[in-house]
Amino acid sequence: MPSFSYTAHPARVVFGTGTFDQVRAEAERLGHHRVLVLADPHVGDVADRVEKVLGPLAAARFDGAAMHTPVDVTERALEVLRQAQADCVVAVGGGSTTGLAKALAARTGVDQVILPTTYAGSEVTPVLGETENGVKTTRSSPDILPETVIYDVELSRRLPVPLTVTSAVNAMAHAVEALYSPDANPVVDGMALEAIGRLARGLRRLAADPADLDTRSDLLHGAWLAGMCLGVAGMGLHHKLCHTLGGSFDLPHSPAHTVVLPHVMAYNAAAAPEAMRRIADVLGAADAPTAVFDLIVECGGPTALRRFGMREVDLVRAADLAVATPYPNPAALTHEGILGLLRHAWHGDRPDPAAVDLAAPLSIHRLTEQVVATFTGAADTRLRDLLSDLVRRLHGFAVDNALTQAEWARGVDFLTRTGQISTPTRQEVVLLSDTLGLSSVVDVLTNSRTPDTTPSAVLGPFYVEGPPALAQDTDVSQGLPGIPLYVDVTVTDTDDRPVAGAVVDIWQSNDDGFYDVQLPDLDGPVLRGRFRTDPHGRLRFWSILPSEYPIPTDGPVGQMLAATGRHPYRAPHLHFLISAEGYQQLITQLFVRGGSYIDSDAVFGVKDDLVVDFVPRTGPAPDGRKRDGGWRELRYAFRIAQQSTFSPISPMTTPATALKEAP
Ligand code: BEZ
Ligand code: FE
Repeated sequence: MPSFSYTAHPARVVFGTGTFDQVRAEAERLGHHRVLVLADPHVGDVADRVEKVLGPLAAARFDGAAMHTPVDVTERALEVLRQAQADCVVAVGGGSTTGLAKALAARTGVDQVILPTTYAGSEVTPVLGETENGVKTTRSSPDILPETVIYDVELSRRLPVPLTVTSAVNAMAHAVEALYSPDANPVVDGMALEAIGRLARGLRRLAADPADLDTRSDLLHGAWLAGMCLGVAGMGLHHKLCHTLGGSFDLPHSPAHTVVLPHVMAYNAAAAPEAMRRIADVLGAADAPTAVFDLIVECGGPTALRRFGMREVDLVRAADLAVATPYPNPAALTHEGILGLLRHAWHGDRPDPAAVDLAAPLSIHRLTEQVVATFTGAADTRLRDLLSDLVRRLHGFAVDNALTQAEWARGVDFLTRTGQISTPTRQEVVLLSDTLGLSSVVDVLTNSRTPDTTPSAVLGPFYVEGPPALAQDTDVSQGLPGIPLYVDVTVTDTDDRPVAGAVVDIWQSNDDGFYDVQLPDLDGPVLRGRFRTDPHGRLRFWSILPSEYPIPTDGPVGQMLAATGRHPYRAPHLHFLISAEGYQQLITQLFVRGGSYIDSDAVFGVKDDLVVDFVPRTGPAPDGRKRDGGWRELRYAFRIAQQSTFSPISPMTTPATALKEAP
C-alpha cells in the first residue's frame, strides 16, 4: 500500500468552448471591479475582445510581456497597474504573459484570471521565474498561483500547427518527468498519464483537422493536467537541460523541449522502468522513448538541435552545465552520458531501445580520457593535440553508432587490405583519403590561407618523384593516340611578375584513361615530365587532350564505391606541380570545361577556378608545327605565393632547391 503526501493548489478552473465570455463574471466573482488586461502582442485582437467582455471593468491594458519575465518590464506594468488602481489582472497569452501576471501578483497581491493561448501549463503552478541583468531567479509562493484559469478550447484553435506540436510536447514533458519525480504519488500519476494520453491523441489527430474541437479539447485538457503535474512534482534532467539550452544557448523554448524529450526518456529508461512501461501503455507502444520520437516525427515536429543553429562544439559545455549542480533524476547524471544524449539530440537520431545505456556507470568517457592522458608527455604539442582529438572523435564515433565487434572487425579488415595493396605506385591509402573527400578538405584549408594564388587541388596517387627532365616544346605524348594539345602557360607571383626558372612537373592519363605507372608494358615514363619556365615565366609543350578516367577500382576503395553506389570517374584534367626557390609550392590540376563528371568528380577535386577552356583549333600550331585535323590549345597563368607571405605548411613533395637536374 503506498503512503504519500499531496498538496493541492487551490485554483478555480473554467474549461469549455466559448468560456472566454465568462471573464467578466469570473473577475466579479473574485470581487474585483478594476481590471488591468495583460496581452501577448500576438493575440492583441483577443485581448480587444476580452476588454469588450469586461466592459466597464477594463481599467487599463499592457501589451509588453516578454520572454523570461524581465524585471524592468514588470516594473513598467506595475506603474500601469498603479495608475489604473487595478485590483485584478486578466492575462491573455502564453507563458510570458502568465509570468508577468504572476510577477505583478507577487509584488502587489492582485488576483489573477488567466486565459492561456498555448499549452505552457504555468498558469496552474505557484512558481515564478524572473530575469534581471541576465540572471534568472525562481521562487514559489501561494500568492503567485493564479486564482482563476479560463481554458477556452475555441480560443486554442488559433494556435498555429507547428507551435501546437512543440507546445503540446513541452506539456507532455511535464507529465513524463512527474511520473519519475521523487514527489510522484498516485494522484500525480493519474493526472500525468491522463495528460500524456490526451496530448498524444490530440497530436495524432491534429494534421487531419487542426481546428477540430475534440482534438483541441484533448490538447488543452492534457496541457492543463500536465501543468498541474509541473506545479506539484519536482522536475528532473529534461527540464534542467532545456533550461540550459534556452538560457545559455538561446534555443527556442518549446522546440528545445520537443527535441530533447525522447532522448532524456531513453537516458532514464533503465532507471525508471515502471514510468516508461506506463507511458508506453498509454501510447499503445512497446517502447516509450521511441514512441514519443515517432509521434513528433509524425506531427512534423523538430527532431535535431543542430537545426536551431546550435554548434556541435557547444554540446560539451551544455553537458558541463547539466551536471554542475546535483538534482534528483532517476538515472545517474554523468558527463559522458549526458554528452552522448545531447549528441543524439543534436543529430536528430531516433532513440534505439537496443543501444548502449548512456546512463549506465560503464565509463567510456573515463577510458577515453585515460587514453588522451597518455599523450600529455609528447614533446611535439601539435602531435599531442591532434592525437587527443582523434581519439576523442574515434571513441565518440564508436559510442554514437553503438559499433559492434563484427562491424569493427570489418573495418580493420578493410584498412588492413588498404595498406597491403599499397605500393609506391599504387597508393590505396591516398585513394581512400581522396574518395572520402579528406584530401580535398585539407586542400581547401590550405588554399583558404592563400586567396591571391591559383587554387590548389589534390596530388593524387599517380605523381612520381623525379619525373624525366624535358626541354620546352617537347611532346610528352611521345606519339600516343589522342587529340593533340598545345599547352602555353605562365607562372607569375601574386603581383603578376613572371617567375623564371620555376620547376613545373606535369602528369596526365592517356586517351584510355591510364597513367603510365598503371601500364607495366610501357617502356619508361610517358605523359609526364619536368620543365622549367623561361625568363618570361613561360612554358610551352605538346601533349594530348586528357580524358575522364576511373580511379582504380580493383582494391578496397573500389569495393567501398561499389557498396555505396558511387561511380569511380575523375573529370578530365591535367596535373601541375610548380616549385620555385623562395615561393610556396603549388599542386593543382586544370579541368577541361564541358568534360564529363565535372559535377561529380569521384575525389571531390574540381574547383570552379580550375575549370578552363581547352580551346578547339584547326590549322597550323603557334610553334609552326603542322597538325592534320583539329588540336586544342590551353592557355593559363598560374599565380604562386612568395614563401615569406606564407610558410606554416611544409611542402608535400621535393622542395624546389632539390630539383637541380631540371634543364
Ligand atoms: C588523380 O587525379 O590522378 C587522382 C586523384 C585522386 C585519386 C585518384 C586519382
Ligand atoms: Fe589525375
